[in-house]
Amino acid sequence: MLAPMEDITDNVFRELCFRHGADLTFTVMARLSGLAARNGNTERKIELLNDVPSQIQLVALREDDLKSFLGRFESTGGFAGFNFNIGCPSPQYVKQGLGCAMMKRVSKLNRMVNAVKNHGYPCSVKMRLGMNLFEKQRKVYLNVIRGVDADFFIVHARHGSEHYEAKPDYSVYPDCVATGKDIIANGNIDSAEKVAFVRDMGVKGVMIGRAAVRDPGIFGRLKGMEEPDAVALRNEYTTLADKYGVVNKYMSNVMKRLGQKIAIEEENAEMG
Ligand SMILES: Cc1cc2nc3c(=O)[nH]c(=O)nc-3n(C[C@H](O)[C@H](O)[C@H](O)COP(=O)(O)O)c2cc1C
Repeated sequence: MLAPMEDITDNVFRELCFRHGADLTFTVMARLSGLAARNGNTERKIELLNDVPSQIQLVALREDDLKSFLGRFESTGGFAGFNFNIGCPSPQYVKQGLGCAMMKRVSKLNRMVNAVKNHGYPCSVKMRLGMNLFEKQRKVYLNVIRGVDADFFIVHARHGSEHYEAKPDYSVYPDCVATGKDIIANGNIDSAEKVAFVRDMGVKGVMIGRAAVRDPGIFGRLKGMEEPDAVALRNEYTTLADKYGVVNKYMSNVMKRLGQKIAIEEENAEMG
């Protein structure tokens, strides 16, 4: 799966990764309150302009917003369901009870997931291991996985106070898998060895973010497919960008990374 990434994973980038082996993609996160209020900028974030399988990612708080949004939602293109982001650690979100702060509101999240499913839509959850080390140690992530009826859980193996230079803790996966729910591993996955490592722990799949921006062919490569080189991928990206139109900052975020051969550890240090 291609990870949702703000200012990167628009229709253009999602189609590029899908063509090169990603099975499922996600829109960038959209605030449910903005969608409920019919905010045009927020609505554009979740527009699906092609048949690429995509889940729409929501950062959600209020159940009445969800009800009014779902009441008039019409699926288009490759719509493949909704995803609730309960992993965003940004203080701006957490202060408002959004993102990581939702990890302790299991019953509420479950009601929202079921509201989506009652409309007949698939629904997944993307999370971290808790807001901080304390929550991780108390294994709040297991409460979420056990208590919520999502179709699958993407577990980014860091807690909310950890930056990208902190090593993801894949050792959490066996407990997650033991719940009997479908688990997708996420965090620094960029090689067949890492995929095999987490697969051996029983996860159903992997989600790849930054490594896919450098090499959108990574999905195909991990599946043993022959993939085009960086120059061909850049050309394909710009052709798709012409087709759909692209916001400048999305294009510059992709173009400055695509084809870069830096190790993920170096990038972690760079991103802080
Ligand atoms: C530039 C950038 C933007 C991101 N935006 C989102 C987002 O909108 N929603 C989300 O759930 N995660 C977001 N993330 C987190 C990624 O989806 C992913 O969980 C994280 O990068 C770890 O995976 P990776 O090591 O494969 O990159 C973002 C990450 C980056 C680097």
